[in-house]
Amino acid sequence: MLHWIVCPTREAQAKACAAVLAAQVLQKPDSVLGLATGSTPLAIYREMIALQNEGVVNFSNVRTFNLDEYIGLSHDHPQSYRSFMETNLFVELGLRSEQTHVPDGMAEDLSAECAAYEQAIEQAGGIDLQLLGIGHDGHIAFNEPAEAFTRTVFVATLTAATISANQRFFARPEDVPRTALSMGVGSIMRANRILLSAFGRDKAEIVRDAFTGPVTPQISASILQFHPDCTIVLDEEAASAL
Ligand code: F6R
Repeated sequence: MLHWIVCPTREAQAKACAAVLAAQVLQKPDSVLGLATGSTPLAIYREMIALQNEGVVNFSNVRTFNLDEYIGLSHDHPQSYRSFMETNLFVELGLRSEQTHVPDGMAEDLSAECAAYEQAIEQAGGIDLQLLGIGHDGHIAFNEPAEAFTRTVFVATLTAATISANQRFFARPEDVPRTALSMGVGSIMRANRILLSAFGRDKAEIVRDAFTGPVTPQISASILQFHPDCTIVLDEEAASAL
């Protein structure tokens, strides 16, 4: 079941997403939140920090699981997703490392790390609310166009398009990792609630195709049409092809 929220501006769009996350945590202070990296969540994380600083909500008791991490980057590498989360959210919210989980891209045994991460989510009681962005090819986490939906945390090979989109964060193109540990589509679909955020004209066509077109592993976000509780928050530009 898809619920749509279209906001007049990018700023209002981020505030609406932060409000959904805040409402979840007001109801259940130790909520398990699934979190994302990339451009989309940045303004949302700033709004969450502002809400906590204003005393509206206290996020400091949440537990978090990130969607993905590059393989081959240590957690203290400046471009690792762990570093991104520490800098843009965790430190400001006062979250300790025991509360936050990001897959270990330096694990020696990657399939054991995948299994352990999936199990850690289950042991935490599952994800209450999962925040997602969407890639230009319709990917959620690193579920690139494929023949079948992935079920659990897996080793993902990034497509050329995703590598080039991610290049903006690295000094040289050859520095962009080619593989990542990623939640599977099944891991995401098991979350109780989903919050998918998208803004900007460049996301308009994929938002239309993913949520009003056929459900297909070629556009992994399309599976969210079958999720019982998925809220899609857009600005007017991202909603402009609907
Ligand atoms: C990030 C992630 C990705 C991004 C997607 C959109 O953890 O899993 O699926 O959500 O690539 O990225 P941005 O927000 O940079 O457009």
